[in-house]
Amino acid sequence: MGSNGTNGDAAVGSDMPRQKGKATPDTLKVGCIAMVIKDGQPRRAEILSIRETKSGRQFYCNFDNFNKRLDEWVPVGRIDFEQDVDWPNPDKDKQKDGKMKKASTAQKKIPGKKTQKRVGKREQSVASEGQTPHPWTDFVESQQVKASPQKAEEDDKVVASLEVGATPGVGSDEMELNEDETPAEVAKRERAASFSREEEIEKLRTSGSMTQNPAEISRIRNISRVEFGRYVLFPWYFSPYPEIFSQEDCIFICEFCLSYYGDLKSFTRHRLKCTLQHPPGNEIYRDDFVSFYEIDGRRQRTWCRNLCLLSKMFLDHKTLFYDVDPFLFYVMTTRDERGCHLIGYFSKEKESADGFNVACILTLPQYQRKGYGRLLIQFSYELSKIEGKLGSPEKPLSDLGLLSYRQYWSENIIDLLLGFSEREERCTIEGIASHLAMTTQDVEHTLQALKMQVYHKGEHKIVIPEKLIQQREKSKAKQKRLIDPERIQWKPPVFTASNRTWGW
Ligand code: ACO
Ligand code: ZN
Repeated sequence: MGSNGTNGDAAVGSDMPRQKGKATPDTLKVGCIAMVIKDGQPRRAEILSIRETKSGRQFYCNFDNFNKRLDEWVPVGRIDFEQDVDWPNPDKDKQKDGKMKKASTAQKKIPGKKTQKRVGKREQSVASEGQTPHPWTDFVESQQVKASPQKAEEDDKVVASLEVGATPGVGSDEMELNEDETPAEVAKRERAASFSREEEIEKLRTSGSMTQNPAEISRIRNISRVEFGRYVLFPWYFSPYPEIFSQEDCIFICEFCLSYYGDLKSFTRHRLKCTLQHPPGNEIYRDDFVSFYEIDGRRQRTWCRNLCLLSKMFLDHKTLFYDVDPFLFYVMTTRDERGCHLIGYFSKEKESADGFNVACILTLPQYQRKGYGRLLIQFSYELSKIEGKLGSPEKPLSDLGLLSYRQYWSENIIDLLLGFSEREERCTIEGIASHLAMTTQDVEHTLQALKMQVYHKGEHKIVIPEKLIQQREKSKAKQKRLIDPERIQWKPPVFTASNRTWGW
């Protein structure tokens, strides 16, 4: 993974000429770029940190064009000291407070005030990496759809005429001007941007939640191993657990209350006392495989912060709030005689001004690639259907998030259109959007990316290339699980302003 990345897999130190020279294990320092062996291949890597261990000195490396989740500690033996290293540029690579250049580059690339989309809420770390302006840019390649967008193939199914002008303006929603920004929002954004690294990390550690300032996220994975229920997890990214935990070889997280321990003895003691056997909220869905619980960030602040800490180990592209109060958490579990075990979750703003129906979404690594992400995504859209709203996930999406959403959107649009064509119904982009509770923009982009919009005999049409129908039939045969909307027992919660959040 990583090649599809929307973030985190940037080239290291590529934009500034640097002094080159030979280094030794003693002189190699943070900020240097060296050739380091990864999976048997020499790769350019930036040294982000150095530590002494019982078995010798180790260097924390971020590899050129690899997702940050593949950063790792490497021993001296994997570094090629025969080759010149690029020395850090002392003046240009460091900011006053000692932050490394990559962070400052990220800041530089954040669109200017006028072009930054939304402020004070969730700042977007991907935008700051300046890599992918729109989540759809590489869609076509990944779907490997070769059909021409302009002409309907003879064997393609012409599903319906698309009414011209049926689609409201579609454009990139990521970089657009934000004329609506109020002075208070500007001030809030600027305050957020001026957090010092120390303040930020300290706040994270003491509040147990996430940073809002993308440039300030620690770049070094701090937890190497986690025991969680019957699984051992190997974190991908930094998560602001208390600093002392970074010294542990392994931390222990209670799989029910999500509290964390640095040693087995205190964890064992906790387990004897802990009575929780399911997430602390209402069960709003149950089928033979999974249950969903709805948890209010304000009512279950500690549990939700613990969930954010846990999920931050696998989520990097997005920054999360200190404050869990404005969010609801929809947590999917699997049941056995010992209790309900966490598979994954998505969070959702109690009120999203931008119409997002998912803020963050995660399947724990031990359950990934088994179809659970689809269930989470489907559930989020089922809730939007009940609300009578069109929803979309908050941007930016991670590489894995993007793959999963594309897949979900494509499958569902194709299934719907095939149904339409059987019933010989006509459809519009709005029709698809309202059936699937997707935004018209997501529908439009999916159709474009799959080359399903054509101009044929003087009419705009939506067609399904035969190849896509075949692909869909194959993937449907594999697909095991779906959410049964009939089983959802849920009414959109209503919040008063004071319930949404409280001042910190
Ligand atoms: N490689 C290729 N395709 C993938 C991958 C992958 N590693 N993961 C998912 N996909 C695509 C596939 O098309 C897959 O369908 P298929 O298996 O039939 O081919 C489809 O997505 C759905 O896969 P699931 O198994 O249902 O998804 P999973 O349970 O693995 O969850 C998720 C996906 C939630 C994105 C997971 O990878 C994850 O938690 N990643 C880490 C956190 C993250 O990046 N979250 C998204 C952030 S974006 C946001 O929060 C709004
Ligand atoms: Zn517990």
